[in-house]
Amino acid sequence: MIKNDLFLKALKGESVERPPVWMMRQAGRYLPDFMKLKEKYDFFTRCRTPELATEITVMPIRQIGPDAAILFSDILVVPQAMNIEVEMKPGVGPWLPNPVNTAKKVEQVIVPDVNEELDYVFEAIKLTKQELNDDVPLIGFAGSPWTILCYCVQGQGSKTFDKAKRFCFMEPIAAHTLLQKITDTTIAYLKEKVKAGVDAIQLFDSWGGLLEPKDYQEFSWKYMQQIIDALKDEVPVIAYGKGCWFALKEMSQSGAAALGVDWTCEARNARYLSGGQITLQGNFDPARLYSKPIEIKYMVNDMINAFGKDRYIANLGHGILPDIPVDNAKAFVDAVKGYQPPNR
Ligand code: CP3
Repeated sequence: MIKNDLFLKALKGESVERPPVWMMRQAGRYLPDFMKLKEKYDFFTRCRTPELATEITVMPIRQIGPDAAILFSDILVVPQAMNIEVEMKPGVGPWLPNPVNTAKKVEQVIVPDVNEELDYVFEAIKLTKQELNDDVPLIGFAGSPWTILCYCVQGQGSKTFDKAKRFCFMEPIAAHTLLQKITDTTIAYLKEKVKAGVDAIQLFDSWGGLLEPKDYQEFSWKYMQQIIDALKDEVPVIAYGKGCWFALKEMSQSGAAALGVDWTCEARNARYLSGGQITLQGNFDPARLYSKPIEIKYMVNDMINAFGKDRYIANLGHGILPDIPVDNAKAFVDAVKGYQPPNR
């Protein structure tokens, strides 16, 4: 039994005294102790060494105090396991020396045995569960197939992912073959994560909002739905789509336990579009953590009032920025914990 079960209760839609809180990318670069480890070990070494991944996962829990942990790893370990080379270049970010941008290259992509290729993730989960000692639940995650395709085809990060879109629209059959291979790998991967002990899953569709609504259905949502269908009876699934407010209705009918929204969608619109029943997660503008702690406190209170305390998980609308002062991140979490409902 998990001692702090606010997060799991919110995922079930149960009433809570205050909403749970965690931050996307909370296991990361704004933490001084993380930066110390970063000097010693490169990115994928940190991901592949269960002791390091565990240490980083637990850091924000002990230092900031959110109601859930998210495993330190990356969405790009999945394409790595599929025989696609992925590097993390300092100052550049993800870097794929051989982008998968032809039908021939798609053929060479494999659907691996996840127990062989991603065993280190499952080991990290087991170790993290021990270290967390059931204090808070542990979230496992994967990128959406579309978001993974974006990096595989583009070869690096991008604001538009124009090369990824060009590939989808010029070579749709190859694109769908690649999306299906990613989907099959992701399902097997997430099922093993559940076996290893994660308490919930979040799917990150960070680039879903780059697609127009019809293309979103065809190239992203269809595959997200396959993953949700395969997982929803085993574990609560949170579907996060940045910029995907237009799909909230369909997402709300998918079997996902909760939907993540970004800060461009107001709470009442998100509630309306998602039908008013499903748990929502979000949506503080990550850049608003630059504000003074006292302002953060008031803004967080307003955010909770707007979403309502039930069926709600307080979070940022996207990942925390690397130069946010730790005190401001803590102010965000503390503000949720100290939530004061309006006087009636
Ligand atoms: O949420 C957490 O704290 C858990 C760990 C986590 C990381 N990446 C660690 C990480 C999670 C959930 C991710 C997901 C991820 N990775 C996404 C989806 C979420 C989102 O923010 O949109 C995406 C698109 C990626 C791909 C990726 N990995 C990018 C764009 C970068 C940043 C590159 C840069 O330097 O700006 C990474 C690297 C990465 N993943 C870092 C961390 C802490 C920073 C690099 C480092 O520590 O060396």
